Amino acid sequence: MAAKVTVKAPTSTANLGPGFDVFGLAIDAFFDEITLSKIKSGISIVTEYKLPKNPNSNTAGLVVKNMKKKFKIKDGVEIKIKKGIPAGFGMGSSAASAAAAAVAFDKLFNLKLDNNLLVEFAGSGEKASAGTIHYDNVAASVLGGFVIVKTNPLNVIKVEPPTNLRMCVAIPSLDVPKKKTKVSRGVIPKKIKLSDSILNLSNASAIVAGFMTKDPSLIGKSIVDVIVEPARKHMIPGFDQVKKNALKAGAIGVTISGAGPSVIAFASNKSDLKKISKAMSRGFASAKIESQTVICKPSIGAISMKK
Ligand code: HSE
Repeated sequence: MAAKVTVKAPTSTANLGPGFDVFGLAIDAFFDEITLSKIKSGISIVTEYKLPKNPNSNTAGLVVKNMKKKFKIKDGVEIKIKKGIPAGFGMGSSAASAAAAAVAFDKLFNLKLDNNLLVEFAGSGEKASAGTIHYDNVAASVLGGFVIVKTNPLNVIKVEPPTNLRMCVAIPSLDVPKKKTKVSRGVIPKKIKLSDSILNLSNASAIVAGFMTKDPSLIGKSIVDVIVEPARKHMIPGFDQVKKNALKAGAIGVTISGAGPSVIAFASNKSDLKKISKAMSRGFASAKIESQTVICKPSIGAISMKK
């Protein structure tokens, strides 16, 4: 059995508009890296980044704690965390660390868990940052590609994305609240109109069809959400302008990435991706917000690295 395993897991964007808590897409913008090593006892978190060191409040730490308990592992585990994904911007940063931790733990102790169990354990880590468990980001980070999270019981369905799908993500320089996901989940209405749910359901279904038929245009045109985006967009200064600019520059669909505040535009490899990115930055600039933009493709999931 290995004494040390390193796993790299990608950024993910959740929801894709109407698929709140159900859709996730792994994207190759950034990566987190987790190295797990066996130690005598306990759980020790080692990182040069500003992250909680208590396993209960650290996504990777909570995953390791839960897996250690479930599989009655007596060894201690050291968790080394290398963050590549900016935290708190709707890029699945906490989820990537949780996903990498679950996959690394599985390898370190040779558990051979199936994908649904890996996602379930990775999701248990999200509680440390989001307050509640949701599987969209972790499922994408574990499996890669486009994922549909079917719950009760958890069953993650993966669909290979079209190879010509491209995304532009604009990450605004905003001060995000500490428990941002929790805060941004709090603004979503508890009750919704039937007509809105029908609209979202029709768009969500069309997105799935778009992934199945490898059609970036159908995916992009169906990124329309009349429930969550309208409730959250006030938390993102300049959002309407960013969206308008991106669409004008040729994006096919635009929405909030996960719980925000990053905004993601969907396009194809034929689109002028630099133009779209610049247009998004200009949108944020109109609200006096600086932003960083990343052009990206769908990514594979968490992989272990030879070190
Ligand atoms: N589906 C989750 C949300 C993703 O939108 O709150 C959070 O990253």
